Amino acid sequence: MTEEVSVVVVGSCMTDLVSQAPRLPKAGETIHGQKFFIGFGGKGANQCVQAARLGAKTAMVGKVGKDFFGNNYIQNFKDNGVYTAFVEQTSEAATGAASIIVNDAGENAIVIVAGANLLLGDEELQRAQATLETAKVLVCQLEISPHASLQALWMAQKSNVKTIFNPAPAIPDLHADFYKASDIFCCNESEAELLTGCPVATVEDAGRVGLELLNRGCVSVIVTLGPQGCVVLQSTDPTPKHIPTTKVTSVDTTGAGDSFIGALAFYISHYPTMPLEEMARRANLIAAVSVQTTGTQTSYPFKKDLPAELF
Ligand SMILES: Nc1ncnc2c1ncn2[C@@H]1O[C@H](COP(=O)(O)OP(=O)(O)OP(=O)(O)O)[C@@H](O)[C@H]1O
Ligand SMILES: *[C@@H]1O[C@H](CO)[C@@H](O)[C@H](O)[C@H]1NC(C)=O
Repeated sequence: MTEEVSVVVVGSCMTDLVSQAPRLPKAGETIHGQKFFIGFGGKGANQCVQAARLGAKTAMVGKVGKDFFGNNYIQNFKDNGVYTAFVEQTSEAATGAASIIVNDAGENAIVIVAGANLLLGDEELQRAQATLETAKVLVCQLEISPHASLQALWMAQKSNVKTIFNPAPAIPDLHADFYKASDIFCCNESEAELLTGCPVATVEDAGRVGLELLNRGCVSVIVTLGPQGCVVLQSTDPTPKHIPTTKVTSVDTTGAGDSFIGALAFYISHYPTMPLEEMARRANLIAAVSVQTTGTQTSYPFKKDLPAELF
């Protein structure tokens, strides 16, 4: 069973607790909101679920609490066909949670408690080692300990497993080894800006910072640009290539970046010889579907709902 896994994600699981209220409360204040819902989030889990919905055999390596939210999260993975043997439950911390308040103007205030996610470490990676080393693709982000992410990337690289690294949420002093461990370094405009110290306002800017990131040692770089698609650079041909996307009416862009990365992981695992620019073009189109409905994972498309030419 585990030998068949093609995409492994080492990353975060978070429960989103979302309240909609007319405005954000002040310190010490209690106000009434009009709507509450619970959603499945965490960048790692989001990317894993999107890859699975496109048809990739995926395994999640993560940590949740021995609590109601942790039990529910594991069930969510199972419902999406994700292999869960490496999602461990700990009694030392609670399942990661994001308490989100959204006001009528669409502004938000968020408290994230990473909890169990920060306890994912070497031991868990070792238990997943055989599966990780026989996969086609490993995907990592920065919502778990950076040390664990880097270990996982190294493990994959040593076994010639392609690595996708998403430096999110970005830290300004990202260790140089992350670039060298990335086959595809995929970030959005604000992350590229933070990592390079150069403002990114245009496609040209994205190409320029992309080149700077490429020169730090990645095999290729993708900078996502929301409705403008993305820019792709490869060490074999470092000229930045703009990959535009179709115009859609966006309703909720939350999690679009994770949909894009999950799709990319699917394409690399299933079509290893497809040019990266073509994979990026198709990932743009899948992420564009995700912005047209509300929610994070709830907005991620399944293979059966997508045009056949994407497969
Ligand atoms: N308004 C949009 N119209 C079409 N496609 C979009 C839109 N917004 C995002 N996308 C698609 O999603 C991808 C990722 O979006 P973006 O660059 O905004 O990432 P992000 O900032 O990480 O996303 P998030 O909103 O989850 O923070 C883009 O490259 C694009 O393909
Ligand atoms: C980029 O992603 C981060 C999460 O890492 C998010 O907070 C930020 O708003 C995104 N930036 C853009 C321009 O979408």
